Amino acid sequence: MLVELLHSLMNLVLPPISFITLLFFVPPYYFFKFFLSAINYIFSENLSGKVVLITGASSGIGEQLAYQYARRGANLVLIARRKKALEEAADNARYHGAPEVLAIKADVSKVDECRRFVDEAVNHFGRLDHLVNNAGISSVCMFEESGDIANFAPIMDINFWGAVYPTYFAVPQLRKSNGRIVVMASAAGWLPTPRMSYYNASKAALINFFDGLRTEFGSDIKITIATPGYIESELTQGKFLMKDGNMKVDQDMRDVQIGPAPVLRAEQCARGIVNSACRGDRYVTEPAWFKAAYLWRVFCPELLEWMMRMLLMTGTGSSETDALSKKILDITGAKYFFYPDSIRAQSELKTD
Ligand SMILES: NC(=O)c1ccc[n+]([C@@H]2O[C@H](COP(=O)([O-])OP(=O)(O)OC[C@H]3O[C@@H](n4cnc5c(N)ncnc54)[C@H](OP(=O)(O)O)[C@@H]3O)[C@@H](O)[C@H]2O)c1
Ligand SMILES: *[C@@H]1O[C@H](CO)[C@@H](O)[C@H](O)[C@H]1NC(C)=O
Ligand SMILES: *[C@@H]1O[C@H](CO)[C@@H](O)[C@H](O)[C@H]1NC(C)=O
Repeated sequence: MLVELLHSLMNLVLPPISFITLLFFVPPYYFFKFFLSAINYIFSENLSGKVVLITGASSGIGEQLAYQYARRGANLVLIARRKKALEEAADNARYHGAPEVLAIKADVSKVDECRRFVDEAVNHFGRLDHLVNNAGISSVCMFEESGDIANFAPIMDINFWGAVYPTYFAVPQLRKSNGRIVVMASAAGWLPTPRMSYYNASKAALINFFDGLRTEFGSDIKITIATPGYIESELTQGKFLMKDGNMKVDQDMRDVQIGPAPVLRAEQCARGIVNSACRGDRYVTEPAWFKAAYLWRVFCPELLEWMMRMLLMTGTGSSETDALSKKILDITGAKYFFYPDSIRAQSELKTD
């Protein structure tokens, strides 16, 4: 068959040709990109008077993103389910310099609520410049111990669909303003981590979905995908979706999953992300050293997998909290150097 012959030929010829072309193409390409990023740095976006909608702004990274946008003079629309915490964040944002702040209580996993808050934002301000899809939750559970597995559906409903719905309703406005979408994925989307498979999958879905949208939007709507490492927030205080379907704080499991990895302050993470978004970066990783994990993942996934298994699974025969990662954390006292105050000891989660 002619087609089969063609495929055999392409199998034979395309890989070496691609390899050789890339070898010559990559260095000048990266030089050009570096040059471009220097220019973007100088002509960073001026956010003064613009309108930014942030989901999940009642705590953690989202709250700090609101303050960073506020300091640059943007008007804000803040979304979350806990009204009291959200109002507090709105007040602080005004204090940090946001001319006008709208706080709307809504659940991003409900499509009608997303339509409503985008409409309210546009009716109020008449425009929308940045949409920041930040709301998200996490779970820590071995797959086989999931119990009633349907209880984990909210991870996808909030992390994935909760970013897709607002985007859908905001796109007409973002096209008009030549705006930007900022997506809060996670470095967990690259790291093969035990007990995080649902979370990991939801973040990997976000990355792939929004990378796909880039090819539809072209330069009309720009997209920045953030893939943070471990950041100070309620999530890293150990607030996880449990198998009974409720959110609870489990600091022992938090210690197992994060281990002796240093945790970055949310403010610093948010500043890095907003700087990147204003420069027009396609991706941003905070702390930047997490990018190294990506290289390991691409070039030796087996090794990374082995390392994660060793750190997070060794010794967990009797109890999950006997993991090597937590032992290292406890023995070295790394917690006192590597974890910010707010997440180190007793958590003070906001209630409503
Ligand atoms: N912390 C990290 O190490 C880390 C690393 C990588 C990525 N991330 C991502 O960063 C984002 C922010 O998380 P965080 O670390 O700052 O944790 P966080 O402090 O728990 O913040 C999560 C925010 O999302 C909101 N939210 C949750 N479910 C919602 C829903 N159904 N509708 C509307 N809002 C909802 C929460 O507000 P309400 O509960 O009031 O609704 C809260 O404001 C998440 O997408 C997370 O996956 C975090
Ligand atoms: C940003 O824009 C505002 C008005 O739109 C202007 O007053 C301000 O000077 C600008 N800032 C910079 C740094 O260009
Ligand atoms: C996490 O996501 C990546 C893809 O981004 C995948 O290759 C990896 O296997 C995932 N790990 C787990 C535990 O799901």
